Amino acid sequence: MVSAFQDPVILNQWHPISSLEEINPSEKTFQTLLLDEEILYKMDKENKVLVWRKGSRDENLPTKLAYGFVWVCLGNPPETLFLFPEFDEPNRKNKATGVIGVNTSAGRAIENFCDMGHFPYVHKGILGEEPHTEVKNYDVEISDEPDEVLATNCKFFQPRANVTSTKGVDADYIYRVPHINCALLYKSSIVAGKLDVIVLFVQPMREEQIRAHTAMCIFDDSSTEKDIRLFQQLIFGQDKPILENQHPKRLPLNPRMETPIRADKTAISYRRWLLNKGLKYGTVAN
Ligand SMILES: [Fe+2]
Repeated sequence: MVSAFQDPVILNQWHPISSLEEINPSEKTFQTLLLDEEILYKMDKENKVLVWRKGSRDENLPTKLAYGFVWVCLGNPPETLFLFPEFDEPNRKNKATGVIGVNTSAGRAIENFCDMGHFPYVHKGILGEEPHTEVKNYDVEISDEPDEVLATNCKFFQPRANVTSTKGVDADYIYRVPHINCALLYKSSIVAGKLDVIVLFVQPMREEQIRAHTAMCIFDDSSTEKDIRLFQQLIFGQDKPILENQHPKRLPLNPRMETPIRADKTAISYRRWLLNKGLKYGTVAN
């Protein structure tokens, strides 16, 4: 096992710990785990979010509020977080859709989120359906500016692509992995030319234990917040047992260890990207 203190890649990173909706406007103190450390957080009367290590009440940790979430760094915080300009676009509904604890590594959760191949089996009747099991060819690149994994031209038949769907469609997808533990899925919205965004921000509690924070940034006037939340919880509830049964739970980065299938081009690029960064925490290197 790797301590986060031996791994500057995971230590010097902004990590999501809570949606703002969960702490606002409560004065309550919450407790969670980040990189094996117990941390506490609260929002004070001036709407300022304070985060500290257990037993170090006087020392506030570097904190950032962005994209509806609280981000914390246990090491030297990066100056910037990845860009997500859609979040600030007018007329979008930004909604945290729940947090789910999963006994897996952050890398496994990100990889699963970006894998269309599991849709017809794990999300049968919703995000996929037999016999439409083929993952059509798509494009993947590791881009430098911004530093991210980007998968484009993804197409997949979906019986019920989103909350308002009434019939099956060939859904167009773009996946962005702009942070080692965060992924954004862009898909056709009800507004022509605009894309809805489904958000997965993963909080590594331990190497093999995470909290998956989910949110949506969408154009949708018809469904209620409760409908949206239940839809997301249904999907992630189906992923949880699959993720918890994967072995090893940590993500293998050496391509010889576990060969993702051809359709899993995003996974191959994601693993290479992490390997090049030198990430140790939550991974198996050789
Ligand atoms: Fe899934």
